[in-house]
Amino acid sequence: MAYTVPKLTDYSPASLEKAAAECIAACQTESREVRSDADLKSFRDRWMARKNGILTQINGLWLKGAPKEAKREAGMRVNQLKARITEIVEAAHVGDGTAALTSESADISLPGIRRPIGAEHPVIKTQNEIVAVFQRLGYSVAEGPVVETDYYNFEALNFPPNHPARDTQDTLFIAGQESKPQRERLLLRTHTSPVQIRTMEKMRPPIRIVIPGKVHRNDPPDASHSPMFHQIEGLAVDTDITFGDLKGTLDHAMKALFGSSVKTHFRPSFFPFTEPSAELYVTCFICGGSGKRGDGPCRPCKQTGWIEVLGCGMVDPNVFEFVKDNGYDPKRVSGFAFGMGVDRLALLKYGVDDIQLFFQGDVRFLEQFG
Ligand code: PHE
Repeated sequence: MAYTVPKLTDYSPASLEKAAAECIAACQTESREVRSDADLKSFRDRWMARKNGILTQINGLWLKGAPKEAKREAGMRVNQLKARITEIVEAAHVGDGTAALTSESADISLPGIRRPIGAEHPVIKTQNEIVAVFQRLGYSVAEGPVVETDYYNFEALNFPPNHPARDTQDTLFIAGQESKPQRERLLLRTHTSPVQIRTMEKMRPPIRIVIPGKVHRNDPPDASHSPMFHQIEGLAVDTDITFGDLKGTLDHAMKALFGSSVKTHFRPSFFPFTEPSAELYVTCFICGGSGKRGDGPCRPCKQTGWIEVLGCGMVDPNVFEFVKDNGYDPKRVSGFAFGMGVDRLALLKYGVDDIQLFFQGDVRFLEQFG
């Protein structure tokens, strides 16, 4: 006989319990009798339909009819019952009538569900390691926006409007900004250097700061380029900071990162916001500086034995002019800055040969770093 919702006269806990148990048993029995998609649909409708489904009827007959003092208890009991019925209905599927497993029993011979533990992404892991080296030297950490204005990304870093140095950073601009003055137009920051200015606007000297973050450039993706990548910027400003401080700090940092036997080497370079500017090379930590790997050439350093790791230099006095009012008078203070590509360092560190692997989210790749 098909189950029908009884009217309750006795609202004692025991009688509520009994009514609920009968209802659950009926629902389980019916769920096992589902043989076709049509059965499944009518089973679901019978129990769940808003209009006159069994759960709706229970609401009406058991809850609304309950005497005042039993309402609370009945309400709780009905809510539990509804949750249980919903589970059974949701678990119901077309079966062959022999289904031994109801949602009430468990097959204890099944293997357990493996929930893999997450791990730091190799790029973030490398970033944290680099940041930690500088924190141990007394640097603090700052961050800034990824969507930046022309002013912070270029102008205040001594790239005047239309200056050819802007072409070295193939920029992604936000559309529809033409009506704004140039310095307010938005772009995706091409480096973390704008946070140098933002930090100096907020904090008076002396400062020692590292700035990790995402940057974007209009580079088509290939094995060594990605339109999105990560940098860590460094900035130290105080009285009497010299190029010697820059060299000593970076030499220490590279030894802390890559091992005490690496050597550092500075070559002249150009950045509008540092003067003089340099590129820092370290002895290749793959081949140890020999340029060879076994009998073959060492690819990561292109057989030179040196790997370029960052750009750096002494903060250009023109940059200090933009934050002069906050204590950065170029006649009084000096400083150094550096910026390195985290993804590139992570590639070298882990011997990965394609930067795209970092951003494809393939668990088979990522779990190797867990
Ligand atoms: N911002 C420069 C770049 O992205 C790197 C740099 C930072 C150079 C700080 C000098 C000082 O290429």
